[in-house]
Amino acid sequence: MQAAAGAGPMMARGWRRGWLFLGLVCSALASVQAADRASLQRGERMFMADCAACHSLKYLRYSRLQQDLDLSPEEVRRDLQRFGAKAEGPVISPMTPRIAGYAFGKLPPDLSLETAVRGPGWVRRYLGGFYLDPSAPQGWNNAVLQNAAMPDPFWRLQGIRANDGHGRPGGLLVPGQVAPRAFAGQLDDLVAFLSYAATPDVIQRRVLGPWVLAFLALFTALAWALKRVVWKDVKGSRGAT
Ligand code: HEC
Repeated sequence: MQAAAGAGPMMARGWRRGWLFLGLVCSALASVQAADRASLQRGERMFMADCAACHSLKYLRYSRLQQDLDLSPEEVRRDLQRFGAKAEGPVISPMTPRIAGYAFGKLPPDLSLETAVRGPGWVRRYLGGFYLDPSAPQGWNNAVLQNAAMPDPFWRLQGIRANDGHGRPGGLLVPGQVAPRAFAGQLDDLVAFLSYAATPDVIQRRVLGPWVLAFLALFTALAWALKRVVWKDVKGSRGAT
């Protein structure tokens, strides 16, 4: 009898603690997910502004992009108009093999699986590795991919960097529009976006995964609270006999 009378308040305390814990976990998860999404949105805008004129993401549809990244309809409409694309169609660059052959001697590769093939670290180093090289056909060179046919897409943002004499970027010849730290952050966003493009379901996994873990944690807490109550009863009845 005594054990049963004590069980009520104890269960209530367990529930209160459980809800408080779940609330804290949920708000932490929500803020991490919002920060991730904001980074992907910035990366997407950067890709559309600086890369999509030459590179495609042929396995990614605009409609999926809009849904996954929670983009505004105006933003997507602007890109669709700019590239003459359809909402259900993939992100295809307007660059034709003829123009590419003439301008670069090769077609800029599709970047859908770029981070999966090369790794995000390689892509980040490549994008940050351009320097001015008048002896190269494009006037630019790259520390990671020597004699790359791609011109530096960031010469305005990052500034123009000299050759250090060892095939790496040296000092700034012309300062960029953004400070080096801010530029590094922008590169992180862009590479995060390219990583998302390589495995778009990562968003669903990230959204779902923590909730599953939170559920398991709450379930464990409840099971533990229940076990305590039941065992208290068992011990109580043993003592009575
Ligand atoms: C003016 C056209 C042009 C623009 C703009 C451009 N690229 Fe490129 N990109 C190229 C060409 C051409 C190559 C092929 C380089 C080579 O293999 O020599 C290339 C190669 C690459 C590669 C290396 C692919 C590989 O694995 O060999 C990556 C990564 C890349 N681009 C990313 C980007 C990103 C990200 C942007 C936007 C910030 C961008 N590019 C903007 C033309 C462009």
